[in-house]
Amino acid sequence: MAAPAQKRVLLIIGGGIAAYKSLSLIRLLRTAGVGVRVVLTDAAKEFVTPLSAGALSNDKVYSDLFDLNDEAEMGHIALSRSADLVVVAPATANMMAKLATGLADDLASTLLLATDKRVMMAPAMNVRMWHHGATQRNVVTLNGDGVIMVGPEEGDMACGEFGLGRMAEPETIFKAVMAQLNPRMGALNGKHVLMTAGPTFEPLDPVRGITNRSSGKQGYAIAEALAGEGAKVTLISGPVSLATPEGVARVDVRTALEMFDAVHAHLPADAFIGVAAVSDWRAQTVAADKQK
Ligand SMILES: Cc1cc2nc3c(=O)[nH]c(=O)nc-3n(C[C@H](O)[C@H](O)[C@H](O)COP(=O)(O)O)c2cc1C
Repeated sequence: MAAPAQKRVLLIIGGGIAAYKSLSLIRLLRTAGVGVRVVLTDAAKEFVTPLSAGALSNDKVYSDLFDLNDEAEMGHIALSRSADLVVVAPATANMMAKLATGLADDLASTLLLATDKRVMMAPAMNVRMWHHGATQRNVVTLNGDGVIMVGPEEGDMACGEFGLGRMAEPETIFKAVMAQLNPRMGALNGKHVLMTAGPTFEPLDPVRGITNRSSGKQGYAIAEALAGEGAKVTLISGPVSLATPEGVARVDVRTALEMFDAVHAHLPADAFIGVAAVSDWRAQTVAADKQK
């Protein structure tokens, strides 16, 4: 019996501070037997070296659209189709904007337009860049075009700010990639289910806020069961301390308005399940200093 063909990922690394985490992603994928071919943007080379990416992927690293040797060896169109899945991690605001508008002015953006494979993006950027209207419009467009979003997550950022925009951890992206490469056969194959779970947190000042005791456990259990049936599940989650179920794309939010925006950004969906305990209240103005 012939051995099953090796699954392959084309990993595009964008120029963000989280690029170093993508080296761990290469390792995780290679350890799982997945072939990884890396494309670095010019900006990405400021953060990680082609040498590291090449050594970890055990393959040539591509970067230049107009490299005659690369074109002779494997044209950019062939390169764009040489994998089962195209993963962009970190996906910069710039790269998301380029794909949303169809710009192709370097190797990475040209591959993203030329590919006939699914594209998965792990956005990573400063919280204000993520919440900017332009980025949010691009997320809606990319979702509509069938791009699978993994993250971003909420947390402390390299720039010293806190909020949404941190790249999903390599393990989370790895699980999403593996779920995409090996779709489970189930009753919900090919269906996109959009869910909310957990509480929301409405700030009153930099320290205090209104929240509730929702653990998120019920929503997470439902998300896991749906993914087990083969659904593509996007879980918009309030602040909880639960692990992301395997194969589920999780987007962390804090407030009800962030949850509202994230739900809209991830439409269309075949079904929506709202399990979150959304706050009934929010402060008209959030005090700049701790209230005593
Ligand atoms: C130190 C530093 C960190 C950066 N981090 C990010 C980031 O996390 N996300 C992002 O979207 N842009 C980030 N940028 C800006 C991008 O590098 C810039 O938009 C670049 O044009 C992206 O190119 P690319 O999308 O082709 O990789 C950063 C820039 C610098 C100087």
